Amino acid sequence: MTVRPTASPAPAASTAASTEASAALFERALAVTPGGVNSPVRAFNAVGGTPRFVERASGPYLFDADGTEYVDLVGSWGPMLLGHAHPQVLDAVRQAVSRGTSYGTPTRPEVELAEAIVGRTPVDKVRFVSSGTEATMSAIRLARGFTGRELVVKFAGCYHGHVDSLLAQAGSGLATLGVPGTPGVPAASTAATLVLPYNDPDAVAAAFAEHGDRIACVITEAAPGNMGVVPPAPGFNRLLADTCREHGALFVSDEVMTGFRVTRSGHWGLDGAVEGWRPDLLTFGKVMGGGFPAAAFGGRADVMSMLSPEGPVYQAGTLSGNPVATTAGLATLRLATEEVYAHLDKAAQVVREAASSALTEAGVPHVVQHVGNMFSVFLTDEGVTEVRDFAAAGAQHVGRFRAFFHAMLDEGVYLPPSAFEVWFLSAAHDDRALDRILSALPVAARAAAAVPVDTFTGGA
Ligand SMILES: Cc1ncc(COP(=O)(O)O)c(C=O)c1O
Repeated sequence: MTVRPTASPAPAASTAASTEASAALFERALAVTPGGVNSPVRAFNAVGGTPRFVERASGPYLFDADGTEYVDLVGSWGPMLLGHAHPQVLDAVRQAVSRGTSYGTPTRPEVELAEAIVGRTPVDKVRFVSSGTEATMSAIRLARGFTGRELVVKFAGCYHGHVDSLLAQAGSGLATLGVPGTPGVPAASTAATLVLPYNDPDAVAAAFAEHGDRIACVITEAAPGNMGVVPPAPGFNRLLADTCREHGALFVSDEVMTGFRVTRSGHWGLDGAVEGWRPDLLTFGKVMGGGFPAAAFGGRADVMSMLSPEGPVYQAGTLSGNPVATTAGLATLRLATEEVYAHLDKAAQVVREAASSALTEAGVPHVVQHVGNMFSVFLTDEGVTEVRDFAAAGAQHVGRFRAFFHAMLDEGVYLPPSAFEVWFLSAAHDDRALDRILSALPVAARAAAAVPVDTFTGGA
């Protein structure tokens, strides 16, 4: 199968379009749903203004309820690697739906998707779930069951879904809301979680020196994207794996965002390649679900054998391995050729460089960081050259980001509505879509420059 970017629809009639229909839907949504949304960042709280209610999407474009077209740089927060409504994915989904939508039995597509994942990634066995949250929650339960230990090490700024025990200093959503944790999580849940600063080998050594024989696992984003993109320092993931092995703990690499997004081999691994070692468990989501609710965790055969019904660690799900979702995931992975990743890498480089030039030209201090085709733009203080951890990511001028975001939106480009997120491209971002982004960037950079830094210094 080949990847064909879907044909570009006609240009939007105007920029800074009406938001009347979205505003009306938002008002109705507010009456029946907390905050009017089903996931907090969608509410535009971090940037203000009316969230756009999207009615359809095609290739690199979103079309909202007012009929306005936007070039999409969110991609449903990562899954839409091939762009929206890819014809071959839709065909596969239509065929799957015509056979019924859920049986609660094992099915062929889930075997084929599991084979595809086992074939590409360093996992011996894989179990499907319906969200990345379930994947990390289950991986942690399994690590605890396997080791007979309770403590979990995570890093500040890494987000692993809304798992009780992992909602401590958990990156973008919480950073954006300025909430350090969340009410509703019992102290006992987070008491077994050690939160360490990211990219800090000394903190890892100190935690293991003190608690080594009680640590069940270390969980980390393979390359964090949830505090903006913060690449692991060279050797950091390897150090985590080695330290875990030395102390009898498991190393859990969360690839829900990076998996199949950054490379065809599905995992980001050891600073780009797995050489002679592998994580004990990996979690996947987003791209492998092809835009449907599907996620997975997998790993070493002896660890996965602990899972019910083979072993004693219980885990289950009514819709796990759903035939429509696994069909969409399989079609997506089959279409995600090396050519697709080469296009994504190139397109990401073009947009990154253009964003940086526009900001430099406008005199806006910034740092642009990337891991493969995932990248983020941090609007920092003058003189900052790198963002290595959550504390640095938090020192952003979010007021400048707000102005930047809204100027992009007015120019017809839909950025993530938060300063702590990845900008996601797709295989469908063709020259027309890229040109639109490139012409919007200088306008947005000038809008950011117009915001005085001293009044709007943000904080995670
Ligand atoms: C690295 C990582 N892990 C886990 C999750 C949770 O996935 P989900 O939102 O599907 O529950 C996310 C979501 O953004 C993520 O980025």
